[in-house]
Formats: sequence, structure tokens, C-alpha cells
Amino acid sequence: MKTVAFLGSPRKDGNTELLLKETLRGIEDAGLIVQIFNLNSMNIQPCQDCGGCDKTGECVIHDDMDQIYVAIKSADRIILASPIFFLSLSAQTKAMIDRCQSFWCEKYILKKPVSAGRFGRKGLLLIVGGMKNETGMQCAEACVKAFFRTVSVSEHEILSITGIDKKGEILRYPAVLKDAYKAGKKLVKN
Ligand SMILES: Cc1cc2nc3c(=O)[nH]c(=O)nc-3n(C[C@H](O)[C@H](O)[C@H](O)COP(=O)(O)O)c2cc1C
Repeated sequence: MKTVAFLGSPRKDGNTELLLKETLRGIEDAGLIVQIFNLNSMNIQPCQDCGGCDKTGECVIHDDMDQIYVAIKSADRIILASPIFFLSLSAQTKAMIDRCQSFWCEKYILKKPVSAGRFGRKGLLLIVGGMKNETGMQCAEACVKAFFRTVSVSEHEILSITGIDKKGEILRYPAVLKDAYKAGKKLVKN
């Protein structure tokens, strides 16, 4: 079973990364390895809406998304971890998602959706926000649902944490970290 994880926070050892690490520990304890993409350190240009992928299902821009396209196609499990920035996903996360417009064209225009392997395709969304406000979560969740369905992830779970702001503050919430660990284990359970 192949699992791919996207880290959308620019803050090293920040709350999102710490939460993701617990999820990855759950997966690794289940005997599996995960391919991790740290989006902040990658060269991912924003979608240019050039229409280049309309007819081919392939993006005309060649940058670090090339390796992400390959990984998404062959993934059985996809994890997306992002902080809330201005009531939505981080720009790093959103840029990657927008570039998946090529998968949207493949699925909805060319009628060639990414096919599922024998484990099916499942997703997990991890989101951390500093405010005790649900609006950011709702916006992020709607966006990620559209992303997951576009890349043929037909079902996904969400672990969203509000009111965690300072760097590393999430470590003060062991119950949340435990939930992340359990979510990882559950994700790769067949
Ligand atoms: C540019 C920016 C915008 C933010 N906007 C929001 C917001 O709209 N809602 C919210 O709940 N938290 C917001 N936050 C707070 C972060 O979501 C919070 O600090 C989170 O713990 C950061 O996660 P990280 O440590 O993984 O980067 C914002 C932080 C930054 C830097």
C-alpha cells in the first residue's frame, strides 16, 4: 500500500508538522512507509489557467509538480496537512491543489479518472487553526474535498484542531496527538 503525505506548513516543527508526524508514526507502526512532500521547500508555480491541460490532462508547466503527479497517480492513501491561513488552506497547499486541475480535466473532460488499485483510494485531512473559529475549517474542508474527489480519493477523514497558535503548542494536547496517531493507523488498515 502506497501512502503519500503533503505538508503545507512553512513553519518547521510547527503544529501541523508535529500533528503529521504522529499520523506518520501510526502508519510506520503498521509497518508501512510514507512518501512525504514538504510543499514549502518545493518549486511549485501557481496554475496559469492557460487551458493547456484541457485536451491532454497534462500540465504544460514542468517544475516539482512533476514528481507530485506521479506520486498522486500511484497512491493508495493521501494525507494533506495544512494550517489555516486567512480562513483557508496555506498558499503552499493551495498552489499544489490548483495544479491538480490537470487531474480535473482528465477526470471530467477526458473521462479518464485516476484508477484505484486493490486497496482503493482513501484520504486524510489534518488542519490546525489558531482561532476558535470554524469558518476557516469549513473553507479548508470544502477545498480539500474537491481536491480529493478530483484525484479519485472517494472517501476521507478529517482531523481539525482549532485554537492552537504558538509554535509547538500542539504538544500540550496529548489527546489530539493520540487521535492523529490513531487516524494514521486507521488510514492504512485495509
Ligand atoms: C498568515 C497567517 C494567517 C493565519 N490566519 C488564520 C486564520 O484565518 N484562522 C486561524 O484559525 N488561524 C490563522 N492563523 C494561525 C495559524 O493557523 C496557527 O498559528 C497554526 O497553529 C499554524 O500552524 P503551523 O505551526 O503548523 O504553521 C494564521 C497564521 C498565519 C501565519
